[in-house]
Amino acid sequence: MSTEDKPYRRTVKSFVLRAGRTTPGQLKALEQHWPRYGLSLAQGSLDIQAAFGNDHPVIVEIGFGMGSSLLQMAQANPQQNYIGIEVHQAGVGRLLNAAAQAQLENLRIYQDDAIAVLDQCIVDQSLAGIQLFFPDPWPKKKHHKRRIVQPNFIALMHRKLKPGGFLHMATDWQPYAEHMMQVMLAAPGFVNQYNNGQYASERPNQRPLTKFEQRGSRLGHGVWDLYFIAV
Ligand SMILES: C[S@@+](CC[C@H](N)C(=O)[O-])C[C@H]1O[C@@H](n2cnc3c(N)ncnc32)[C@H](O)[C@@H]1O
Repeated sequence: MSTEDKPYRRTVKSFVLRAGRTTPGQLKALEQHWPRYGLSLAQGSLDIQAAFGNDHPVIVEIGFGMGSSLLQMAQANPQQNYIGIEVHQAGVGRLLNAAAQAQLENLRIYQDDAIAVLDQCIVDQSLAGIQLFFPDPWPKKKHHKRRIVQPNFIALMHRKLKPGGFLHMATDWQPYAEHMMQVMLAAPGFVNQYNNGQYASERPNQRPLTKFEQRGSRLGHGVWDLYFIAV
């Protein structure tokens, strides 16, 4: 097995699970709608045709939080399939509720570590795109090792994207944006849509504006979008 094919195992996780914040409504959604939308690591390699009933392009969103941007994108693009991956139960419950209410057919959800899901369930070169919006910035130096964007992580993303597929990352924390850019510029097999070393000059259209970002921009905070194509 070459280094490229080795499973990517991380001992330090990019998240810390907080307990006890799932509302009764979210718990009910988990019970009612998980059978329709949920996928699990234990199912192993994902058969996209079987999961969605079609072979439309598949876009994965890592760490969707409460799911508002993922919900908007799935509603706006019914000809694309979306897979959301999030470890937090409250966010999963909330998205399940919203997806069922909107009768979405083009969304599936994993409640697991995205690295394990990509590694163990997503077939190589099967994705049209991967989105990572506002990942935890882990600003303290001693926590930098928790940042999800690392060279091995980007190599895993590359392996899962089809040639021509995109990796779209956004952050509101400039030092993390610079770290992401540094990792991407050193990563083989990616071309920057916005020229080397450059961030998108404005929010790419396909990324919906979230309340969090609206509030940030009112407060004068910046957002950095990185958009790379796998070659
Ligand atoms: C700062 S929040 C941003 C949420 C959302 N993308 C947004 O823009 O509002 C980061 C999210 O990533 C999730 N997360 C972090 N590492 C993860 C991983 N390895 N797998 C799945 N989710 C992860 C966290 O649980 C958290 O909800």
